[in-house]
Amino acid sequence: MPNRRIRARASLRVAVLAAAVAVLGGAAPAPDKTDPLADQKAFQASFGERFPQVPFADFANGPYAVSAPMRKQWEDIMQFPPYDFALDEGKTAFETPFANGKSYADCFANKGIGVRQDFPYFDTKTGEVATLDGTINRCREANGEKPLPYQVGLMASITAYMAETSRDKPFDIKIPDDPRARAAYEDGKEYFYTRRGQLNFSCASCHVGAAGQRLRGDILAPAIGILAAFPIYRSDWGSMGTIDRRFTSCSAQMRSEPLPPQDKSYRDLEYFLSYMSNGVPISGPGTRP
Ligand code: HEC
Repeated sequence: MPNRRIRARASLRVAVLAAAVAVLGGAAPAPDKTDPLADQKAFQASFGERFPQVPFADFANGPYAVSAPMRKQWEDIMQFPPYDFALDEGKTAFETPFANGKSYADCFANKGIGVRQDFPYFDTKTGEVATLDGTINRCREANGEKPLPYQVGLMASITAYMAETSRDKPFDIKIPDDPRARAAYEDGKEYFYTRRGQLNFSCASCHVGAAGQRLRGDILAPAIGILAAFPIYRSDWGSMGTIDRRFTSCSAQMRSEPLPPQDKSYRDLEYFLSYMSNGVPISGPGTRP
């Protein structure tokens, strides 16, 4: 019965293979499917090749890094930076004690001065990504104060002040050796590259594929360093906006349903984008025409 012999040999081969896999698997864990550092190197190299004339640190300046006419406009706006009011308001709020006598400084390393480049970070206690904005609200709540709305207003002012004390410090985002941190990174990466909405665009379609190109009145900012200037003042907003405000408006640009501010996927997205930008200096607060 040749058939039976063939089947027997085949099942023997499967068994041998399974045993080999078990032995190998025991000796060395299967390689991670993600290698964030390799992703980061490839990402940074690809923008370096696309924009050879842009010094690496200049990716902190978003669209101005890749458009000479916009840069000229920027120099004019900066005679009277429209975020100055927010900076003053943020500094005052930052330095005013809560009703219980504590203050923001008590919730941060180095009393909150010069720490923007370390956010977001993976919090091994909660198992989730903690953003600067989220940490500000957790600080308020821990001290008996109401949380602030995330997109505009005082949240933008306080983060503007905290960014300003961190200017020129390079993003220094860490992915700890913790499967939950890897999962958060993967989730953010997936969010960035997934096509969605009526236009079937991903974040990458505009900020990688079309970076530096014109879309209506705007020049599309390259994804590298894209959060370095936040929060920003935009003339078309007529006010300051946080990262949540920008994520929400870009979700709308894609004709897709925005997530609530600080949704887990938005925080993971911020983690991914900031990690990709390690080494790019903080330039915030920023201003856009
Ligand atoms: C249809 C194209 C389009 C898509 C898709 C898109 N954006 Fe944008 N995005 C823009 C435009 C236009 C601006 C304003 C001009 C600029 O600065 O790039 C902008 C600005 C930004 C900025 C601020 C850049 C700066 O320096 O001011 C961030 C951050 C950003 N987008 C993130 C995202 C994320 C995250 C996604 C995916 C959820 C996304 N965008 C998807 C068009 C897009």
